[in-house]
Amino acid sequence: MQMAASFLCICACLLASIIMGGHQTTALQSEKDALLRLKEGFGNPRSLVSWNLTVNVSPCKSWVGIICDINSSSVIGLSLTGFRDLAGRRISPDIADLHHLRSIELPNNGLIGTIPPGITNLSCLEHLDISGNALTGALPLLWGNLSRLVILNLSDNRISGTIPTGLVGAINLRVLRLENNHLSGHIPDSIVDLVPTLITFNVSYNHLVGQIPRGFSKKFNDYSAFEGNPFLCGKPLRMACATAMAQTLPQQDDTRNPMNRDPNRPSPGKRRSSHKGPIIIASVLGGTAFLLGLMILCIVFSRRRRHTEANGGGATRQVQNWFSPDIQADRRRGTYKVFSRGFNYSYDELVTNAGYFDTAHVIGKGRYATVYKSQLPDGTLVAVKVFKFSNVGLCYEKDMELLASIKHRNLLAIKGFYANPVEKAIFYNYVANGTLYDVFHGPKISRDTRDDVLPDWALRQKIALGIAQAMAYLHRGCGYKILHRDLKSTNILLDADYNPRVSDFGLIHLVSGRAEPVETLGYTAPEVLSGKKHTEKGDVYSYGVVLLELLTGQRAVAYIGERAVKLAEWVMRLHDEGRGREVFDPIVVGTCQLPEQLDRYLNLAVLCIDVNPSNRPSMAEIANILETQCSSASPLRSPDCKANNPLLSG
Ligand SMILES: *[C@@H]1O[C@H](CO)[C@@H](O)[C@H](O)[C@H]1NC(C)=O
Ligand SMILES: *[C@@H]1O[C@H](CO)[C@@H](O)[C@H](O)[C@H]1NC(C)=O
Ligand SMILES: *[C@@H]1O[C@H](CO)[C@@H](O)[C@H](O)[C@H]1NC(C)=O
Ligand SMILES: *[C@@H]1O[C@H](CO)[C@@H](O)[C@H](O)[C@H]1NC(C)=O
Ligand SMILES: *[C@@H]1O[C@H](CO)[C@@H](O)[C@H](O)[C@H]1NC(C)=O
Ligand SMILES: *[C@@H]1O[C@H](CO)[C@@H](O)[C@H](O)[C@H]1NC(C)=O
Repeated sequence: MQMAASFLCICACLLASIIMGGHQTTALQSEKDALLRLKEGFGNPRSLVSWNLTVNVSPCKSWVGIICDINSSSVIGLSLTGFRDLAGRRISPDIADLHHLRSIELPNNGLIGTIPPGITNLSCLEHLDISGNALTGALPLLWGNLSRLVILNLSDNRISGTIPTGLVGAINLRVLRLENNHLSGHIPDSIVDLVPTLITFNVSYNHLVGQIPRGFSKKFNDYSAFEGNPFLCGKPLRMACATAMAQTLPQQDDTRNPMNRDPNRPSPGKRRSSHKGPIIIASVLGGTAFLLGLMILCIVFSRRRRHTEANGGGATRQVQNWFSPDIQADRRRGTYKVFSRGFNYSYDELVTNAGYFDTAHVIGKGRYATVYKSQLPDGTLVAVKVFKFSNVGLCYEKDMELLASIKHRNLLAIKGFYANPVEKAIFYNYVANGTLYDVFHGPKISRDTRDDVLPDWALRQKIALGIAQAMAYLHRGCGYKILHRDLKSTNILLDADYNPRVSDFGLIHLVSGRAEPVETLGYTAPEVLSGKKHTEKGDVYSYGVVLLELLTGQRAVAYIGERAVKLAEWVMRLHDEGRGREVFDPIVVGTCQLPEQLDRYLNLAVLCIDVNPSNRPSMAEIANILETQCSSASPLRSPDCKANNPLLSG
């Protein structure tokens, strides 16, 4: 009886151990499978040849870099350091299937791609070190399951995006190393909650902006933990925060010149115009011509206002409806000239089809003009640019004829113009894709959509070359020497195939009513700002800024609070520190297979924005350099390079 009982007991224990053993084997088996998939993601490198199924022993004994718990035989550690044959490979999401991991150490392997978000499901994780790789993309957002995490070391990667507020979920974090990455945005205030446990904290050499949360600066008072973020301010950095910090890149309006947008077009080209306040700072106002202009302007406007009020007012907040009886009378006395064959319409027809220039037809507003869209009976779309200031230069008609005679495939052709004493207008073709500014920064571009809709590197090369050729033609090729004087991304239109069309060349002095330059913040060359004449090298400077916009995806001016930071100065600073490669737009890096080619473009842009005008190359030289880049054997070669060659088109 006793024997039978003990036999039963032994059986039960055996059974239990068999069941338990079976369970352990399947758990380990699934971890083994996950590791093999991880190895496959690493490209089955030689260094991991021991990770195979042919050896009938546990990975815990014979696989390199694997640490197991002796009691449960589950994989609790993964440690692969400096395995150069992993370079250029990715961390497979299968890593998240290693549920028992306490430690992941993969530093200095040259890994690329993103951190698999599933890693934050590994609730046993205590130590995560993926430093010294080439990882890109945003950090995982949710860290709430990593309550045991003690070390998070992501230093020396190319990780972009912001510091996720979700990091506060890692309540036991002692080491947080994020230095030498491309992180942007603010340091989230909520991260201050981690300060009591944190011992090491480093966010130096990123692109962080704004104020360092106060809770940090008390405990982490070594400025080296924050240095290398040009837009970061507050203690312990020396740069004080002047004003309450706003976001780094506010919607700035600007004198966009969108004779181009169709509010009903549902493509990436569709960008509603939004105008929140001019970024233009007119330099010192002066000159009798300008004062005279103001006086005429006042008279004209008061005349108009009286007129509108007589008609019941109400419309004063709207864009002026120019089609009023006194203007009709004036209109008959005006000059209407057409330069484009087949453009057989009267000015009245253009005005009628632009809804008598009412607000619904406005497609853009600039410093000096409002642009209306007009659709003609045959379906032709036209952009009509109507000047706000009717006191445009005395030689307006002659100048317009000259400007209209300049034709190049990358210049926006003037189809015709109209002028009378109170009203001046220019007609252009309507261009499908909006301005370069809109394409990069229009309201449809958000952090989430930009990767899908922004032009890739090949398209940006094409745009850069087209603009350079147009500018070279203006400066040297057209028989005259014409300075643009106001080159900027809002003056560059893109057609349906992203061919650039430079517009508004030579117009600014016609419409500003004076010869001295007017500053366009971010684009105007330093020597012009200090009062010297605008030469062709001034245009080259502006071109350099446009080229930087294409390379970095950033606006020409960013704001920190009320402080304006110029893109040109920011890039110059990083370039001088040997950190030029950090400025590139991730889309550019991701779609360009030749990093040295990007270096050449950046060097060229930096040369264009040299403070010394005589160091800047000419536009013809720039076009030539870009063209040879294009035609050198490269997988990025844009198919349009050859077609871009002839400067002059019909
Ligand atoms: C499996 O690993 C052993 C070393 O552990 C190695 O000798 C063998 O070549 C490997 N087999 C395969 C098919 O990779
Ligand atoms: C294994 O079990 C022993 C005894 O239960 C325990 O002392 C030891 O800490 C365990 N080892 C691990 C790695 O959990
Ligand atoms: C985390 O685990 C849950 C449940 O297993 C799963 O639904 C979720 O997709 C996982 N998260 C990630 C980012 O893999
Ligand atoms: C973090 O990574 C860096 C670079 O690989 C290394 O030097 C450092 O020892 C790591 N620190 C910790 C605490 O893991
Ligand atoms: C924690 O993990 C579970 C599944 O394992 C998942 O459903 C949950 O979303 C995670 N929570 C956080 C805050 O990450
Ligand atoms: C932060 O990281 C930078 C760059 O690696 C280093 O120079 C600096 O000494 C670190 N500072 C602290 C406080 O860890």
